[in-house]
Amino acid sequence: LVDGELKKWTGKTTEVYSTISSTEKYAPTLLGTIPFMGEEEAAEVVNSAKNAFNHGQGLWPTMKVADRIKCMENFVTQMKTTRQEVVKLLMWEIGKSLGDSEKEFDRTVDYIYDTIEHYKQLDRSNARFTKSQGVNAMIRRGPIGVVLCLGPYNYPLNETFSLLIPALIMGNPVIFKPAKNGVLLISPLLEAFKTSFPKGAINIVYGRGREIASPIMKSGVVDILALIGNSKSAIALQDQHPNKNRLRLVLGLEAKNPAIILPDADLDLAISECITGTLSFNGQRCTALKVLYVHESIAEEFNKRFSQAVDALVFGNPWDKSVALTPLPEAEKPAYIQGLIDDATAKGAKIINQKGGQHSENYIFPAVLFPVNKEMRLYHEEQFGPVVPIMTFKDIQEPLNDMAESNYGQQVSLFGKNITTIAPLIDALVNLVCRVNLNSSCQRGPDVYPFTGRKDSAVGTLSVFDALRSFSIRTFVASKDN
Ligand code: G3H
Repeated sequence: LVDGELKKWTGKTTEVYSTISSTEKYAPTLLGTIPFMGEEEAAEVVNSAKNAFNHGQGLWPTMKVADRIKCMENFVTQMKTTRQEVVKLLMWEIGKSLGDSEKEFDRTVDYIYDTIEHYKQLDRSNARFTKSQGVNAMIRRGPIGVVLCLGPYNYPLNETFSLLIPALIMGNPVIFKPAKNGVLLISPLLEAFKTSFPKGAINIVYGRGREIASPIMKSGVVDILALIGNSKSAIALQDQHPNKNRLRLVLGLEAKNPAIILPDADLDLAISECITGTLSFNGQRCTALKVLYVHESIAEEFNKRFSQAVDALVFGNPWDKSVALTPLPEAEKPAYIQGLIDDATAKGAKIINQKGGQHSENYIFPAVLFPVNKEMRLYHEEQFGPVVPIMTFKDIQEPLNDMAESNYGQQVSLFGKNITTIAPLIDALVNLVCRVNLNSSCQRGPDVYPFTGRKDSAVGTLSVFDALRSFSIRTFVASKDN
């Protein structure tokens, strides 16, 4: 979708495969082909977005708030008619379970309605005058410029839209490149985008990052880089911008969220939350629990029951309701996870669940590893997949010190009952991460709450409320009292 037109594509294409096999003998299923765009198309979208913004004088950035809202309402109304198709593609393209795929679609629709509501409130508060030292001011929020938006494969709709929708509604033209896995599911929405927004306000391109995103960055047209993914790509893209001082960043990056299980924790609750926290969508969530710290006095009991609960999880196809573990969309992931397991076992950890590490062609069954230590890759790397490291602690200061030394700082889960122990811990934890989850696993939602991280985990804040601010600038009209 470039400059308001769905381009007829005659150029190079690339094939999109599902990891789900349609034959008994495993063979990835070909789902479709997508355009493989490069420098020529980059130049076209750059011009389209640049003209749509036109130094803030374009149709989209100057449009009245009520009209921009109408465009967004029109879009979401049309989007809702694509639910069945998009949900099906979420299952086939990224192996997300039926329930989670439906949730992702519905959550995205809710996100758009909530954004519209917050945008209306923001606009009402904009209309107020303030006064200080004889100067009257009417403060507004307005667009910044062109946004390049790159979403992740694990939430190709919901997380991507938590960047794209606020960026767009604030009047910024957006260039959006979907992730390599989770690209076809955007196709059912193209027509809705095309007919709901003025030309150039939203441009959608397909292709590899280095072929299409790099030349867009090099053009210097991008004012905001909005990306959810890995730091390496974010840094590489920033480095290509000719004027980095001008570039704003909204980034959701890696995390290594710990769970701390105190001696008096309700073990049934801690185990069921840690199962969801570590392994929902096979651990492919930035908010997943990626290391468990268990107090040494309860470690034996916890490890036994947690391992049994992991082994009870069923692997299969996403549409089967009894299934919790599904094929991995990244072909290289099983070998990567095996590498982490081999490294940890060579350095003294053991796989403590019976099924841990069992392979199928496109999957590796979650391995629970104990005891994990700081010599191991598994302690340092964000596994983003089905492997669970467990460590023990004697003194609570040990996990706190590890968190303080970590490069990441998104969330933590704390399991315990005694409020006099927990209260002072919360004060320490909120200065190490941005969200402390009491007796529950880590998660992003509800989307009205701030979603961010410290250190290398994030730049800027996403939530319905915060994102509108991240993608806009405050300006004001001033007059003196004379
Ligand atoms: O990949 C990171 C996502 O933001 C996780 O979102 O906690 O809703 O699964 P979630």
